[in-house]
Amino acid sequence: MMETVHVGLVDRAYDIHIGPGLLAQSGALIAPHLARKQVCVVTDENVAALHLETLRAGLAVAGIAMESLVLPAGESTKSWRFLEQTVEWLLAQKVERRDLVVAFGGGVIGDLTGFAAAVLRRGVSFVQIPTSLLAQVDSSVGGKTGINSPAGKNLVGAFHQPKLVLADTDVLGTMTSRDLLAGYGEVVKYGLLGDSAFFDWLEAQGPALAKGDMSARIAAVRRSCEMKAEIVMRDETEQGDRALLNLGHTFCHALEAATGYGDRLLHGEGVAVGCALAFELSARLGLCSQEDPSRVRQHLRAMGVKVDLADIDGDLPDAEALLDLMGQDKKVVDGQLRFILARGIGQAFVTADVPRDMVRDLLADELARR
Ligand SMILES: NC(=O)c1ccc[n+]([C@@H]2O[C@H](COP(=O)([O-])OP(=O)(O)OC[C@H]3O[C@@H](n4cnc5c(N)ncnc54)[C@H](O)[C@@H]3O)[C@@H](O)[C@H]2O)c1
Repeated sequence: MMETVHVGLVDRAYDIHIGPGLLAQSGALIAPHLARKQVCVVTDENVAALHLETLRAGLAVAGIAMESLVLPAGESTKSWRFLEQTVEWLLAQKVERRDLVVAFGGGVIGDLTGFAAAVLRRGVSFVQIPTSLLAQVDSSVGGKTGINSPAGKNLVGAFHQPKLVLADTDVLGTMTSRDLLAGYGEVVKYGLLGDSAFFDWLEAQGPALAKGDMSARIAAVRRSCEMKAEIVMRDETEQGDRALLNLGHTFCHALEAATGYGDRLLHGEGVAVGCALAFELSARLGLCSQEDPSRVRQHLRAMGVKVDLADIDGDLPDAEALLDLMGQDKKVVDGQLRFILARGIGQAFVTADVPRDMVRDLLADELARR
C-alpha cells in the first residue's frame, strides 16, 4: 500500500514514502542512507508517548540503534531556547557530518530539527518522519526549516532538504480531532491554489478522511505531496511560484501573532481562515465569482474547521492593527504586501497589487461580524 512521491531536485533529490505501517519498516527504508547504524531522533512528548517505541522497534529490525531527545509539545518549542538545546544535545551525541538526524513529530519538531541539522557542523543530513497531518502534507516536504523569533513567526531559518520523508498514515489515528482538522486546512489549500478537481474530491471524501478512512488519507497526503513537490521543483527558494503555497498565510500569520501563537488558533486553522479571507478578497476585487468564497467556507464549515474571524475565541486587534501585523510577513517586498489571490478555485496567483483600503475594509467587515 506504500506510495512514493519523488522530489526531483537534482543533487538534493529525495523520496516521500506514504502509507500505513511505515514506522515498522523505518529501519529498512532508512538503512541505505546511513554510514553507520545509529540515529539521533528528536521528537515531542506527545509523539514520544504514543509512537517512539514503535519507531525504535522498526529501526532495530535493521540493526539501527536510536538515541532520542524529547521536547515539550507546541509552537513555543520552535524557539532559540530549544534550538540551542537540540544542537547541544546533537553535539553531545557526537553526531558527525555523515550521520542522519531524524525529525519525528509534527511541523514544530520538523522545522526545529531540520534547522538544527542545517546549522550543525555546517549541515548534517536529516530524515523527516512527520506524524501530524499538517506535517505529512506540507511541512516535511520542501526543505523550509526554522524557528520563530519574538519579532515574528519563522523569521529565522534555512533551506535544508531532507534525505527522505516517511509519512506513516497509521499514526494519524492518534491525533486529536482538532489537530487533524487543522492539518486539513493545509490539504484544502492545495485544491484551492492549483487543483479544482482535488477540491471537488475533498468535498466528497473529506468526511471519510476525517473519520479515518485509510485510502482517503493516503490519497490526500499523496496528492498534497505531489503538488508541493511539483512547486518546490519549479522554485526551491521561493523566488516566484513557491509563494503560491502561502495561500491564506499572510492573513494567517497576522492572526497567529494576534492570538499569541498558541491554542486560540492553531497554524492550520489560521490557514483555513486565511484561505476564506483570500477568496473573499478575490471576489471583492472582481477576480472570482462570489460563489467561490461561499463554496470554500461551506466546505470548511462542513468539515468543522475554523472559517471566520468569529470562530476565534477572545479579543482580536482592530483592522488597522491586523494590517500592521501583516506587514511583518516575510512576503513583504520593498515594503509592499504580497497576496495570493485567486481567479477561481484552483487558480491562485501572486500579486502585490492590492489596495490597502480594500484589505482593511474586508478585515473591518469580518471583525464586525464577531
Ligand atoms: N516548513 C514548512 O514548509 C512548513 C509548512 C507548514 C507549516 N509549518 C509549521 O508547522 C507547524 C505546525 O505543525 P503541526 O500542526 O504539525 O504542529 P505541531 O508539531 O505542534 O503538532 C500539533 C500537535 O499534534 C501533536 N501530534 C503530532 N503528531 C501526533 C500524532 N500522530 N498523534 C497525536 N498527537 C500528535 C503534537 O504533539 C502537537 O501537540 C507550525 O510551526 C508551522 O509554521 C512549516
